[in-house]
Amino acid sequence: MNVLIIGSGGREHALVWKMRQSKKVRNIFCAPGNAGIAQEAECVNILPENINGLLSFAKENKIDLTVVGPELPLSLGIVDKFEGAGLRVFGPTASAARLEYSKAFAKEMMAKCNIPTAVFKTFTSSHEAKKYIKEKGVPLVIKADGLAAGKGVVVAETVDEANNAIADMMEKRAFGDAGSKVVIEDCLKGEEASFMVFTDGNAIVPMVSAQDHKRVFDNDKGPNTGGMGAYSPAPVVSDTLTKKVINEVFKPLLSGLKKEGINYKGVLYAGLMIDDNQLHVLEFNCRFGDPEAQPILFRLKSDIIEIMEAIIDNRLSDINIEWKQEASVCVVIASKGYPGNYEKERAIEGLNEAEEIKGVKVFHAGTAKKDNDIITAGGRVLGVTALGADIKEAVENAYKAVEKIKFEGMHYRRDIALKALSLTVN
Ligand code: AMP
Ligand code: GLY
Repeated sequence: MNVLIIGSGGREHALVWKMRQSKKVRNIFCAPGNAGIAQEAECVNILPENINGLLSFAKENKIDLTVVGPELPLSLGIVDKFEGAGLRVFGPTASAARLEYSKAFAKEMMAKCNIPTAVFKTFTSSHEAKKYIKEKGVPLVIKADGLAAGKGVVVAETVDEANNAIADMMEKRAFGDAGSKVVIEDCLKGEEASFMVFTDGNAIVPMVSAQDHKRVFDNDKGPNTGGMGAYSPAPVVSDTLTKKVINEVFKPLLSGLKKEGINYKGVLYAGLMIDDNQLHVLEFNCRFGDPEAQPILFRLKSDIIEIMEAIIDNRLSDINIEWKQEASVCVVIASKGYPGNYEKERAIEGLNEAEEIKGVKVFHAGTAKKDNDIITAGGRVLGVTALGADIKEAVENAYKAVEKIKFEGMHYRRDIALKALSLTVN
């Protein structure tokens, strides 16, 4: 079959890599892709937000399955549009994806479904928001309602930081309309985990657990990013917790959505805060996490195409999904300046040498080809992913590979997955 993957990050490279292993797949197209994806699929220069362009491409090229990587096209209704045109597409509809593109909607759904989450209030006036901050006191978490590329959340330790976040989002409109509404919530403590499931709206199949590393610097210091690395499994997600998350989060949420006339299909991601087996939901995403997809797809034994087709055809409960016992780790290498303004067009060396290390695959994110060089073209550049018998071995393999890679100004965290080994770095 012919498959079209939409997106250009490490997650999409991992999807392309995994789909290459399926006997069902003949041609893989990726819009727009990156330099690494171009080695394994045919890249087409159509942006993810150009829904009509993607639809015409899919029709003209007889695409049998379209898989949507990032949230933006989902929020723009790509699934509704493709389904309306009789095409097969993997992902939630726009009304279901609202769980991610409106944090206020997600919080309302959690309240309606009795899903444990931080106490919150929603504001459309910066004056009222600042009044609430003064009354409540800090720490508080300020969240832009809409999509902000993983940068619309500020954990404010001081009243000044909280007020500045309100001013940036609501008055200076740093994220445009996405910040005209904000959610302010209580600050929770604990360990975070990324909990993803496959669902066709009825059956819920959990993926193996993962933990992301959101902050830019070692030991969780510095500003939030899209994610600087991830590993699987995350010891904080015990079997008991998994049952609890299914019963107390996903089941009530899917039935709550049904009451609103929404049938959620695709990948659903809950960002969890876990403290002493107590769980709270921080957010929902309507897609695979990035970088979590890289270590998770590394551990998936089953054919991803079969899973996606079963979801589209509402028969997820009929299939068996298998995972590898080994552990996996993904270390993200970023450009100088990321998550702020970052440098571009730096030549990358050592990619082949890195992949010679046992169990390693280098997934590309912000890369491009210039003459014969692969150059940097984004904030997060590469996701060096490794398998190992356990987390320790996977970490060793990943960092051995990272050391082979060089570009000017590159930076990465040296403590990915060390939490799982109860280690820290100086
Ligand atoms: P979100 O996009 O809502 O997951 O927020 C991004 C990151 O901000 C999370 O991964 C947490 O590290 C942090 N965060 C969000 N909400 C809270 C909260 N209520 N308490 C503490 N940290 C939070
Ligand atoms: N890594 C977090 C996310 O994909 O939203």
